[in-house]
Amino acid sequence: MDSFTLALAEKLPKAELHMHLEGSLEPELMFLLARRNNVSLPYENEEALRQAYQFNNLQEFLDIYYNGMSVLLTEQDFYDLTWAYLERSHHDNVIHTEVFFDPQAHLARGVALESQINGIYRALTHAQENLGMSFRLIMSFLRHLSEESAFETQELALPHLDRIDGVGLDSSELGHPPEKFVRVFKKCHELGLLVTAHAGEEGPPEYVWQAINQLNVHRIDHGNRALEDADLTTLLVEKELTLTVCPLSNKRLRVVDDMKKHPLPEMMAKGLKVTLNSDDPAYFGGYMNANFHAIIKNLGLSPAQVVQLVKNSFTGSWLNDDEKAQALAQVESVWASHDP
Ligand code: HPA
Ligand code: ZN
Repeated sequence: MDSFTLALAEKLPKAELHMHLEGSLEPELMFLLARRNNVSLPYENEEALRQAYQFNNLQEFLDIYYNGMSVLLTEQDFYDLTWAYLERSHHDNVIHTEVFFDPQAHLARGVALESQINGIYRALTHAQENLGMSFRLIMSFLRHLSEESAFETQELALPHLDRIDGVGLDSSELGHPPEKFVRVFKKCHELGLLVTAHAGEEGPPEYVWQAINQLNVHRIDHGNRALEDADLTTLLVEKELTLTVCPLSNKRLRVVDDMKKHPLPEMMAKGLKVTLNSDDPAYFGGYMNANFHAIIKNLGLSPAQVVQLVKNSFTGSWLNDDEKAQALAQVESVWASHDP
């Protein structure tokens, strides 16, 4: 039965809604860019770097993540990074992707926002034209930095809003609650941007409440800890807010200690609108289909549950209604023709 479900999950057209481009930087490309740009890395080779990918919490990962992205300097680097992710996710039958990037981390190294966006966008449009993939681009604010820094970044982004669909909030969650960015997000809404925020990954349910009530998010990234609060769970169900869950990330960052105890089935049983995503695939052990594999193998998801997750990925996306209907029809057609 598992093999039927696994094959179905692989084959189904999927949307990915939670993926940090900088988190898709594989060690091989990191070393290639380091050589190209004369940046030195504190690891002898790819293997030594991979050995360092053992994290006890979010912060231990973030320290390595910010260090790794220091090789990204030119527009071409951002193109190469984005294209590599798109090719891999195309291979996993991801047909629509909504990707994050962390502009402040690159601005701090003197990389202009325009270079970042030009490179990323060129790869996204190339994938649209050559792989038939659709996309949305999400500019994420780093929550460990100040409100002032977020406002400065927002100001820099104004000339590029035709290429930015929405904003997010990521980085060190504990001690940096959503309410820190209420005024920034209010302005984002006024600018017509869609809005999401990481909340309830390591942070308490209170942070998810704040993301909903104070940032007026259109969805929640992670949100696992919402389960600790019954009223919050009810609200999420009533509002049909999408949660972008990332199983391999949760395991590697010790948000869950055993994949067999991942809360995904409980979340689905409670009626939460969950999706599966890879978060930082180069660091956490796999892309979209690897996340489906982990969940199916360890939690014995049924084919119908897999189809539900995939449908949620499209209905929770920022595609328009026609695009959603088209994608859902494709899902139905693959599901209907999948032979045991
Ligand atoms: N959480 C918070 N910030 C991040 C993550 C994450 O999982 N990945 C990249 N930045
Ligand atoms: Zn994330």
